[in-house]
Parts: sequence; C-alpha cells; structure tokens
Amino acid sequence: MSPTQAVALLLELSCYGSALWRYSSKSPHHHIVSTRSAIKLEYEGTLFSEWQVPETCSIKDKRSPKTEMHCSEGVHAIKPIVTGQEEEERYLPVDTTYICFLWYYTVRNMFETLTQVVSIWVYDPEYADSEELLWKAETPSPHSRVLTNHFAIVGQKPIIYTTIRRKIYVPDDKLINWTWRVTLPMTRDDVIKNIKGSQVIFQDCFISDFTFLLTFPVYLQPEVPGFLPISSPAGSQLMLSWDACFPSLAVVVADMETFQTNDSFCTWSRVRVPPNILSDAARHSVSAVLLLHDNIYFLINGVLYLKDIKKLTKLGRTNHLPEGEIIGITSRRWCWIKYIVKNIKLISNIAVWTKNEIYFGYTEDKFVKMITTTELKKLLNLPPTGTLTIHNIDYTGHPLELAVLLNYCITCTDTKKIYMVIYNEDSMKWVPQDFILDVPIDSFLVPRFLLSGMPELILWDKHKVYYSYQNFTTIGVLQTSAGHGNLSALSNDSIIHDVYIDSQGNIVTKMENNIMFYSKSNTKDALKLHLWTNDTMKSSFCVSASAQIYLVYVFDDGTIQPQEYPLILELQSVAFRMKEKCPYVMFHDNISESFHFLDKGKSLKVWAEIIYPENTGLDIIVKVYGPQILEYEESSHYEIALGYCTNTLSMTFYSNVNYEGVDDYFSFEHKNMGNIFVQLRPSQHANVCPVTQKVFQIGVGCDPQKFIEVKGFSTIACAHHEFFYEIDKAYLRHQPPKNLKVRYDWEKFGCPLRLTGHEKFQPLIQLFDDSGHIEDVAVNFILWEIHGRNDYSYNNSMKQSGCLNEAQTWKTMIELHKDLPLEDVWGPENYRPCFSYAIGKPGDLDQPYEIINISNKNHIFWPLHHSGMYVFRVKILDPNYSFCNLTTTFAIEISGVIPRPSGYLVSAIVFVLMLMFLSVLVLSYFQYMNLYKRNIYNPYYKTQIKQKKY
Ligand SMILES: *[C@@H]1O[C@H](CO)[C@@H](O)[C@H](O)[C@H]1NC(C)=O
Ligand SMILES: *[C@@H]1O[C@H](CO)[C@@H](O)[C@H](O)[C@H]1NC(C)=O
Ligand SMILES: *[C@@H]1O[C@H](CO)[C@@H](O)[C@H](O)[C@H]1NC(C)=O
Ligand SMILES: *[C@@H]1O[C@H](CO)[C@@H](O)[C@H](O)[C@H]1NC(C)=O
Ligand SMILES: *[C@@H]1O[C@H](CO)[C@@H](O)[C@H](O)[C@H]1NC(C)=O
Repeated sequence: MSPTQAVALLLELSCYGSALWRYSSKSPHHHIVSTRSAIKLEYEGTLFSEWQVPETCSIKDKRSPKTEMHCSEGVHAIKPIVTGQEEEERYLPVDTTYICFLWYYTVRNMFETLTQVVSIWVYDPEYADSEELLWKAETPSPHSRVLTNHFAIVGQKPIIYTTIRRKIYVPDDKLINWTWRVTLPMTRDDVIKNIKGSQVIFQDCFISDFTFLLTFPVYLQPEVPGFLPISSPAGSQLMLSWDACFPSLAVVVADMETFQTNDSFCTWSRVRVPPNILSDAARHSVSAVLLLHDNIYFLINGVLYLKDIKKLTKLGRTNHLPEGEIIGITSRRWCWIKYIVKNIKLISNIAVWTKNEIYFGYTEDKFVKMITTTELKKLLNLPPTGTLTIHNIDYTGHPLELAVLLNYCITCTDTKKIYMVIYNEDSMKWVPQDFILDVPIDSFLVPRFLLSGMPELILWDKHKVYYSYQNFTTIGVLQTSAGHGNLSALSNDSIIHDVYIDSQGNIVTKMENNIMFYSKSNTKDALKLHLWTNDTMKSSFCVSASAQIYLVYVFDDGTIQPQEYPLILELQSVAFRMKEKCPYVMFHDNISESFHFLDKGKSLKVWAEIIYPENTGLDIIVKVYGPQILEYEESSHYEIALGYCTNTLSMTFYSNVNYEGVDDYFSFEHKNMGNIFVQLRPSQHANVCPVTQKVFQIGVGCDPQKFIEVKGFSTIACAHHEFFYEIDKAYLRHQPPKNLKVRYDWEKFGCPLRLTGHEKFQPLIQLFDDSGHIEDVAVNFILWEIHGRNDYSYNNSMKQSGCLNEAQTWKTMIELHKDLPLEDVWGPENYRPCFSYAIGKPGDLDQPYEIINISNKNHIFWPLHHSGMYVFRVKILDPNYSFCNLTTTFAIEISGVIPRPSGYLVSAIVFVLMLMFLSVLVLSYFQYMNLYKRNIYNPYYKTQIKQKKY
C-alpha cells in the first residue's frame, strides 16, 4: 500500500468508518460480570484482524470478530486490532463474586379470581438455555430444574416483597413442575415487586435478588388487516414514550411505522390506524407521541388524536381543544403513587399547548383551558410591548407541578429570553421562577426535570446541554474535556437527538449519530462514552422493568429490536481512562421508601452516611422543598478509622403543632398538610459516583389506607338476613312523635355483639392500615347511637374522671349546634377538656362522663336493662391523634333480660304472682260486670295488634 493510498483509506475510514465493537454477558443487564462469566466480544466492521486482550483473559478465538473470553479478577484493557485504524480500548472490570444465580419468573393471569400466579425458578446464566437467555421460557430448562430442585432441598424459598405497599407474598410449600408458585392479587398501584430468597449457598454462590414490575395485564392492540401505518415524516429520528409508572409499556414512532410493547420490546406489535380517518400525508406527519396506559396520543399537524383499544379519535373542538394550532403535548415523567392532595379531586395527566394557551387533559378526555400568555404576561410583570409565547412545557419531579418555559422578546431579531413559571395543581397557583436564559431567537430548548426535591432540570438545544441545579442557583452548560460545551464539535457535527434521565440521576445525551455523553445530576461536565451503535442505526433509549437503560433499534424493514446497554460498565471504562474518581467511597442511607406519610404526633427518623478518605472533608447537604410545616433536627457523628472518615447524619422530621382548642380546626389542619421533599447529597461528587443524591417525600396528612375498627366485631361471622326493628319513641334523643322503624344494614353495621342488659361494655379501638394492625388506640374517643337512642349511659361520673369543670356531653353539644346533624355536633374540632379550671364552667360533676379511652375505665351500660338493638358509631376525639377522620360502626344487641333466680327473689316473685292472681280474680269480677253492661249497648271494639319492640 502506498502512503497516499493509506492516507486515502484512513480518510475514508474516518469519514465513513462505522466500525465499532461491543461486549456482553449472559446475565440480564450485565448484572453479573465476574470471573465465572463468559464475556462475548463482537466487532462490527470489515477490517478486523484480531483481539488484543491481556494474558489474564483467555479468549476462545482471537481471530474471530465474534468470540468469547473469560477473565480473572482485575480491570482488563481490551481492544480489537484493525487494519489501518486505531480502535478504542475499553477497560472492563471483572470481579470475583458470590452471586452466580438469578431468579426467573413467568406470570399467569387468573381473571376469575383477579390474581396472578408467578412461577419462579433459579437459573444459572452461564448454563441457561437460549429461551431463558432471551427471556422467552415458559418452563425451566433441564439445567434449571436440577438447580431449582437442589435449592429447594437445601431450604431455599423465594418471597415476593412489594416496594410501594410493603406486602409480602410467600410461595406454596412444594415445588410444582420445578417452580415455586406465588399467588398475588392483581393491582394497579403496587407495581414494583422484588424476589428475595434466603441466604442459601450452592457451589459457594448465592442467588441475586430480582426486581420486576407487575400490574393488571395491559394488552397490546392487535394489528388489524387493512389498517395502515402511522409514522413521523421521512428521515425523522425515533420518538418514544413510555408509561411513567410501568415503563415496560412503551411506544416508538419511526418514519415508517409505529411500534408498541407491553414487555420492554421482548414482544411488540405495530400500531396501525383505520383508513379514511387520516389522509395519507397526515398519517406520515406525527410530530409528537404520548403513551398513557393503553391510550396513545398522536399530535398530527396541530391536531390531537387518541388511539385507544377501540378506535382512533380526533380530539378537537368537541373536546374543548383547538384544532391545527397545538404545538406540544406532554405528560408526567416520574411516577408518584402516593402524595397528599388538599384541594382538588382530579389531577391532570396530559398538558397540551398552543403558542398562547395551555390546556390540561383529565381522564375520559376532558380538557380544560388553564391559562393564556396574556395572563402570564401580567403575572411576570412584563411590558405589554414585547411578545410572549409558550416555548415548551414539562411536568417537574413534583407530583403536582408543571413548568412552563416562555419566550419573551421585544424586537425579536437576534435574541430572546426564556422565562419559567411553575404551576401547582393543588394550590392552583402559577409562580414565576428565578430563571432567565438568554438564547438566540431561533433556538429551541427541550426541558427535562430531574427526580429531585427542589426543581432541577436540564435543557438542550441542537448542540449544548444546559443545566439548572439547586433551585435555579447553579446554571450553566455541560462542559466536555475539550474545554467547551459544544457536543456537536465532538461528534462529527451530529446534533442532539434525545437525553435519557433516570431516577438515579444518570443523564445520557445521545446524538443523532449515536455518539453518547454521560453526566450525573449536579455535575457540570459531560464524559464522552465509547461508541456502542453505528451511526446509521435509528435508535433510542428506553428503561426496563428493573429500571435499567436499554436501546431500541428500528430497522429499515419495519422491525424493532431492543439491545441492552451496560451504562455503568461503559462509564467505569471511560472513568478509568480519564482517571476520574469519586471523592467518596460510599454514600448510603436507611431510607427504603420514597414516600412516607407523617401523621400528627409522629416523627420520621432517618440517617445517611458518607465514607471518604481522611482529610477531604465531605459533608451531607440537606435541602427541604415544600411548605414550611415540618420541624427538622439533625445530628452528625464523625468517626475516623484506617484512613477513612465516616460521617453519619441523623435526621428527625416532626410536626410541632398543637390542634387542641384551635378555633377553626379543619382549616388549621388543612394549612398544616402538604408534600415535603427532602434531598440529601454529598457536598462534592463526580460523574463516576454511583449515588449522588437521595430524594424522598414526606406527606404530612392523612394516609387514606388508615382505618379503625372495634376489636371483636366482624361483618362476615354471621348470617345476613332481612331484618327490621322498631325503637320506642321514648328512647330517642330527639323525642319524635312516633316510634322509629329501622332496617338493619348488615354490610354497614356488621355482626352485632350480644350482651345481657346487665353487662357493661368498653369498646377497644384498633388502628389499621392496609398492611395490618398498627396499634390499639389509646386516646379519647366518643360514641353515639346513630338512630338517636339515648337509653344507655356511662358508668364514670365527671368527678370520678377527674374533671374540674363540667365536661362536654352529647346533650350540651347538641344544644350548641342545633342546626348540625348528630355526627357533626361533637368531634376533635370542638373538643375541650374538663381538666382545667380555665376552660368551661363548674357545674354538676355527678353527670356521666361521656368520653372513653383505654385507661379511664369508662364503660357504657344499659340502666333500663331492657332488650334492644344499638348501632354505635365511634369517633376519635383527640385532636392531636390523626389527620384522618377516623370513625367506625359497631352494633350491640341487648337481650335476655331475665333476672337470675335467687332464693329471696324467687319467693318475692311467687308472692307478687299470688298477689296478682288474687287481684286479677277480684278485678276480673268487676271488669266482667263492666264489659257485660257495655257490650249490651255498644258494638265490640277493634283489637289492636302490637308490633314487637326491640
Ligand atoms: C405440570 O406440567 C405438566 C406437563 O407440562 C402439565 O400437564 C401440568 O398441568 C403441570 N402442572 C401444573 C400444576 O401446572
Ligand atoms: C402483553 O400483551 C399480550 C398480547 O396482548 C398478552 O398476552 C400479555 O399477557 C401482555 N403482557 C402483560 C405483561 O400485560
Ligand atoms: C449498524 O448496526 C446494526 C446493528 O448492530 C447492523 O445491523 C448494521 O449492519 C450496522 N450498519 C453498518 C453500516 O455497519
Ligand atoms: C428556592 O428559591 C426560591 C426563590 O428564590 C426561594 O423562595 C425558596 O426558598 C428556595 N427554596 C429552597 C429550598 O432553597
Ligand atoms: C374530615 O372532615 C372534615 C369535615 O367534614 C373535612 O373538611 C375534611 O376534609 C375531612 N378530612 C379527611 C382527611 O377526609
């Protein structure tokens, strides 16, 4: 080869060369890359000559572009040798590991019982069959059967834990067809499931825990013959949308087809639309796509279309949406299942905007116009001469907030200013933010908010990525090692296609030619990653069920394929080359849940710990975002050992509000409720740190899953039958003219407890949530008979209970609130204790005390001893107990009021009976005479039949 030829070749390679190489292991998401693993190498291109690997790795066939190797422990430099071209070297870390085996699962849906049966087995990725490796197996492979059996014999038993609702599901005792079977209820909101086994070892190896998502099955809409493809304009990059709470559900729009999947592209189908709704040109003009559960929204020529299971519909004027002017649509990117909502019933799930108007979409395709730029201009105090238009919109990391970016310019020739307003759906307020960006007039920025406490976002145009961290105080452009922020200059002038952001703070910027840059949230520089995909491939990022990044490729023949991308290994390799190090060794915490409810009187104690080399002086920074309704205390603890410093930060969050005696209890409660975000981060970090921050939410308010019950009552342990009874008017509080007829509602009142009229009763109130019993309620409560009976009493007097002044009673409370229904006259909102001379008046302290708690020995009893049915409702009276309105109902049937025979009583009764007999005899003589006389002259009067009374 002559020198000129070589130069020509080199030039050609650098211009057209798309050679690159990849590696992979057999475990999903490169979970295990260890000395046991076969690491596959794959060179893509033509001029390959051989692999260059260190001696510590044994390679099968170093001359084959596709081969396998095993390595001993260490970081290994690996690269292919290619004729006339210098290929990139990767540094692959290989560890010895005690984890060799993985869990495999399949799911069967049982619609009759609304359950899902998960079959679980153990497999060894190094010996799995191809079905298992492709995650398409229905039954365990022979090797997995042996392995599973062996583990079962030594006592292994996988248990499914859910992350959100904290439930635990255990398998049946025996293996069935070499699998453990766990039955779970189908749920919509408890999607994250973890399979964990016991610490059982086989061949010095454990089984790795495994996380997956499981909900109600979502069916892919089948392709209908005769339906036509829908796509983006020719030459467009891929557009992608996944369900924030169930990312296995995704849709990809390419320039020739649209694809959907419900299992992270293991299986997929094409989305096609019926002919004659869209013109051919419109069918190929999708400019935005959104997936919300099984609804796909397409934006085509400024009009919104919805494709659901049944049909494709245009959402236009009839749905209160503009037609032809819509420029953008967006939905939430972060999944929050629990949060406190104070004011509204429904939160939006989609935002739609034109240049001048913003619309929110709710379930059932209801759309509402929220605001216009005219109103926003006033809000921002901008002079009316300038032009304000909507630039872009993104939901933030907060469950109830949305951010609007606005363009503002006066002459509108060279530059414009970008402003930001954040809307909180619950407080219904638009709040201008401390954020202004000067950009060229024609630049278009895409914002993405990170999952963070304070608003933090990145924005990108074609060439640069801007960041704005820590409440808009740290703003800039991500810098590269080349000393500038122009990513196009480092990627053959390609432009930014998309940016992937995940909940761990990884930010990966992908150029249209598949060159990628990495940066971590809160860092200011980006690292160029190794090439993974050639520049002609149409690709995009996705996130798997176990929250791992992967790529999807769309091929020209109209097929789509997922490919795993080992982001962390790739990053480690680049960092190894750049000698980048994380300033700390470890940053961890004990905060397992991202959301905590905090009820009155409760506190939340958590800790976070950072371990770093001595003399570097790192700290943990705590930021709290949200209304100021919580107190916060922290204490630090330092320890130095073996050259490392451990800094432990313990935090306590609590609310210090006293609700007793406040004037407007419910609005005071309302004021003190809300969502607080807490963000913890080390004072320094780098792109290579595995964890750079921790965000969690504290919901101060009522956990809707909380409820109370009276111990010993049930709704099912009795036969339900139609049953009416009558309450004598004399026993009713409000003294009606007639007796009250009541239908007993078994569903609501439950099974009554049967007592004799001589027994007394103190209900024991227990607090539960969906995971079971929390505590026996020790605070004050009151009860009332819901039909208004008052023929029961309390055995403690006010004096015995320690009252200094007259206590509140139902009687006095009803008099004070004549206009209110019985259940509203008395409660935590107006409770005043009687134990102080300062509150209330002296009075008759011999009256019964009508407030009960576990320890005051106050019971209800039935002074008249007659039989009857009582339906009581209980209400917690203590204003400092809970944000929830805790009440429950129980019923008591008083029966069998037969006095016990005693010698004295028996003779007394006999005497009385004899006396009665004699008097009846005497009386009847006179009565007879009377009747005889009357009946001679008057007709016989009607006899009345009396109804049985309870
Ligand atoms: C076990 O597998 C056999 C053969 O595939 C099948 O017929 C049988 O129904 C399975 N048993 C259960 C309980 O699933
Ligand atoms: C995905 O859709 C297919 C076909 O509609 C269905 O058989 C499967 O159960 C679905 N999977 C999930 C996880 O919902
Ligand atoms: C690019 O990569 C894809 C997928 O790996 C491959 O099918 C294709 O042939 C490659 N194209 C070129 C030009 O090498
Ligand atoms: C964020 O910035 C706003 C406006 O500058 C300020 O009012 C707010 O207190 C800041 N929040 C935090 C958590 O620092
Ligand atoms: C409790 O009841 C009050 C008054 O009826 C109401 O304003 C409040 O929203 C209720 N609280 C909850 C958590 O349901």
